[in-house]
This record gives sequence, C-alpha cells and structure tokens, in this order.
Amino acid sequence: MSGPTIEELEALKSALTAEIESAADGAALEAVRVSALGKKGSVSGLMKSLGGMDPEMRKEMGPRLNSLKNDIAALIEGKTAALADAELDTRLAKERVDVTLPVTPEAQGSIHPVSQVIEEMTAIFADMGFSIAEGPDIEDDFHNFTALNFPPAHPARDMHDTFFLTQDGQVQASGAGAGNEPPKVLRTHTSPVQIRHMMTHKPPIRIIVPGRTFRCDSDQTHTPMFHQIEGLVIDTETHMGHLKGCLVEFIKAYFEVDDLNYRFRPHYFPFTEPSAEMDIGYSVEDGNISIGTGEKFMEILGCGMVHPNVLKNCGLDPDTYQGFAFGLGVDRMAMLKYGIPDLRPFFEADMRWLKHYGFRPLDLPTLVGGIAR
Ligand code: DAH
Repeated sequence: MSGPTIEELEALKSALTAEIESAADGAALEAVRVSALGKKGSVSGLMKSLGGMDPEMRKEMGPRLNSLKNDIAALIEGKTAALADAELDTRLAKERVDVTLPVTPEAQGSIHPVSQVIEEMTAIFADMGFSIAEGPDIEDDFHNFTALNFPPAHPARDMHDTFFLTQDGQVQASGAGAGNEPPKVLRTHTSPVQIRHMMTHKPPIRIIVPGRTFRCDSDQTHTPMFHQIEGLVIDTETHMGHLKGCLVEFIKAYFEVDDLNYRFRPHYFPFTEPSAEMDIGYSVEDGNISIGTGEKFMEILGCGMVHPNVLKNCGLDPDTYQGFAFGLGVDRMAMLKYGIPDLRPFFEADMRWLKHYGFRPLDLPTLVGGIAR
C-alpha cells in the first residue's frame, strides 16, 4: 500500500494550520482538534494507515506523520494559550475598577421573620418558666407516630402527608419499608420531641420545642418544610384549666392584645385526650386584619391533655403524672402578626423580601423591651 505524497501532507498541514489560526474561540479550536487528532480525525487516520504499509514505506512515512501530528498538536496548544490570554485581556479591560468612585453600601442583613417570631415566643414562654428542647429532623416511626399513640396502619397516620426516607437516604412521598423496619421519616411535627424528652427527663417537665417540620404539601399557605412550636407540661396535678390559662396568656402576649376573644373547640389528636383546637377572634377592615376581638374565628393551634398511653409509652405512670401539650405553626403566626400574605417567599432567600419583612439584628424581643417591633 502506498502512503500519501509529500504534497498531500503539506496540503493537509497548511489547511489545518489555517483552520487553527482562524479559530475564534475554544469551541471552534476543539472542533479542529477533533477533526485532526480525534479518534476519527484526518491525522489519526493517516497514523493508523502506517500499519498497512510495507516496511520500507513505513520507515519513510512514520517520522513524517509523527512530526505532522506533533506540529499540529503544538499549534493547537499555542492557539489555546493565545485564546486564553485574549479572553483574560478582554475581561481585565471590562472589569476595570474605578477606585475613585464612592463606596457602594453593602447589602444589609436582617433577621428572618421566622427567627424573630421564635425569639418572641421563646421570650414569652421563658417568662412562664418553660425551657427549650430540641430533637432531630429525621425521625423514626416510633417517635413520630407509634409512641404518640398513632395505632399501626391507622388512618390517623394519613393526617400527615409524610416524606419517607429510603434505605439509601433518598426522600420519597410514600412508605418504603425495607425489611421489617418501618422507614425513617422527615418529622411531620415537633410532637416526637415530647417523647424524647419524657423518656430522658423526670417530671416536672415544662418545655417548648421550636423546630422544622416536613409535609408533602405546597401552595400559598403550605410549604414542604415549615416550622412548629410544641409545648409540653407534665406534673402531678396539671389540668385543663392550666392549659387554657397558659395558652390564653401566651396569645395575649404574642399579639399584644388585652382583650382576647377565643374559644376551645373539641378536636381529635391521637396523642391527647381530650383534644381541642383553639380559635381566636378577628375582624377585617379595609383589607386589614385585626386580631384579638371580632366576630370571626380562626383556628390557631392544637392542644389537649397528654393521652395516658403516651405517658405509658414513655415509662411514666398515668396514675401519678398528667399534663398538657400544644402545637402551633410558627410561619402562620408570623404571617398573621406581621401581615405577610404568602408563605412561599419565606424560603426563597429574596433580599428584597427580607429587607421588607426582616427585623433589625441585635434588637431581640424581651418582655420588658417589647415583644412586637
Ligand atoms: N402535632 C400536631 C400537628 O402537627 C399539633 C399538636 C396538636 C401538637 C395537639 C400537640 C397537641 O402537642 O397537643 O398537627
């Protein structure tokens, strides 16, 4: 088999050289490289053809093709560096800083309404003698459901649209029980921290639990991640009157209203008996909502006396101990107090929104200095 003539090699070299020189950017240069030195490129093709040549011819063509390949590779390398230099020059020219210009103010940070509201609630409950407890975002079936008296396979479990974790830690919206163990969940409420606390602390217990919670739900007033505050009081003589007094005082302090129109409505939660929802009065005038008085009612929280089964599940004797619990949505409480119409921007990290609804740093709420800003 005869190889290419010297003229043909020269022609190929000058064609490729011209293409390399005229490549306007990295992509164009890469296209030339592939067309010459890539697996199916013109130069690579010639290199491959060496194998089919008779030994004499191969001896002659080998060095020639090798130097063609090396020349082209060197040209491409040179051009790559030249393009990078040119790109840097353009950027440097464009990004030149005029140090004589006045300083632009830094974007100012602010406290997110959720953090603010948690601080406010904490200040109120701390004044009543509560301390803060916390628990994990990833929970097991026992703490999130079973110990809270949700019977297995009971429809009460469907009250929450749960995110389950698969064996390899992925989140999915339906149960993925591997083997006999029920799957882990993203906690659907802060109530499992009641269990964790009762199993590790002796009464009297007086805690609040602020934290993230997760449900498979998304619209103007629901986001897959949201915040709750849980409350738990366990003692030997706690009764429904304490529950009422505690929550009414809390809501009055939080919304800063002396005159509160409220009602407790019977409800169902597996972990309390009796259970109730607390509604508070409100009125709307010219599109502005005013909370406290008014003839309309809105639901604000869930509560009840801790179910004897829950106490037993935590190793407490229900004949000795009893108490109350409550849970409320922090985000919703922030929306109501500060007139924020949509929940979704809470979690979008938009500086304009934060600037509008955020709070001054280091200006923490205290009962003395004032809860609301
Ligand atoms: N865990 C309930 C929920 O997320 C809220 C709740 C209701 C908590 C009543 C409580 C309670 O502690 O007593 O819907």
